[in-house]
Amino acid sequence: LTVALLFGGRSSEHSISCATAGGVLAAIDRERYNVIPIGITRDGAFVLEEDDPARFALNATELPEVFDNGSRVRWPESTLSRQVTVTDGAGLGARSLGNVDLVFPILHGPFGEDGTVQGLLELTGLPYVGSGVLASALGMDKHFTKTVFQQASLPVAPWRTITADDWAEAPGMAHAAVEELGLPVFVKPARAGSSVGVSKVSTRDQLAEAMRVALAEDDKVLIEAGLVGRELEIAVLQGRRGEPARASVAGEVLVSGRDFYDFAAKYLGAPGIDLVCPANLTASELAEMQRLAIRAFEAIDGAGLARVDFFHTRDGWMINEINTMPGFTPISMFPSCWLASGFTYPQLIDELIEVALS
Ligand code: DAL
Ligand code: MG
Repeated sequence: LTVALLFGGRSSEHSISCATAGGVLAAIDRERYNVIPIGITRDGAFVLEEDDPARFALNATELPEVFDNGSRVRWPESTLSRQVTVTDGAGLGARSLGNVDLVFPILHGPFGEDGTVQGLLELTGLPYVGSGVLASALGMDKHFTKTVFQQASLPVAPWRTITADDWAEAPGMAHAAVEELGLPVFVKPARAGSSVGVSKVSTRDQLAEAMRVALAEDDKVLIEAGLVGRELEIAVLQGRRGEPARASVAGEVLVSGRDFYDFAAKYLGAPGIDLVCPANLTASELAEMQRLAIRAFEAIDGAGLARVDFFHTRDGWMINEINTMPGFTPISMFPSCWLASGFTYPQLIDELIEVALS
């Protein structure tokens, strides 16, 4: 089976996608799968990448990246074409890499996790791992994720959505939102991931800077009530044909001496965060979390996989967000949750591929 691995891409999570690719390249079963690693540069060029997990290892001092090596992967050549060709950039012509059977788009963020690439893959008619166009688009946009969750009676933190135009013309809307929600609030770009552009606002005078940082990522921003409680994450896998979705054991993010689980703590090894998996929950707490996670996955019409992030507050569970292509680096919570639930990393990749083909 030939699997095209798509990674990198134009979003601010480019490097995290590369690290995810490194994890998959290291673990995928080479006897079963022929892998074509297709990197997407920050400028959007499709290049044939090295099949070398070490090249994409998560390194805090130099995050991995897809560089333009001059090659160009021509794919899809047309809609409904499975053939992948590559040109080497030195004018030596094109060579075929054969036909692709399945695509593994391990892209995070806009232009990858948001339905755009999924739309391209729909045009090719090829099976691919993960959610389709609608679920990807919903999961990427925190405003619409929360709107759909509310509609499905799933618990979410109260929020207000402010556009760049609102902020320019009527900044009072954002200030009123803070008054209404109460400090602290979190200010987040609607469509970003890995906490890029996210700030905690604890005093009113921090709002303007937080809005500036978030609006640099997206022209739509959420102001969300800060939640007090435990931060827990759980992984979901679609069932095979006719089988229901399954949820893993939960993992917990323990934050100490740090404002929140930000990008530096996630990927740069900044101190103050411990990831614990499995989390210390009672059987009934875990069962409730699993039930809500599967409902969240179904509410957006998810497919393949997702990680659902929660806060466990005094008032019970709150869903923070759903990630339709969660980080898959060796330190990420999605694989850790499944490893703690009895899978090996290669089995997890097999399962994702089998589900995509079923
Ligand atoms: N957006 C990052 C990759 C995650 O959800 O793990
Ligand atoms: Mg996310």
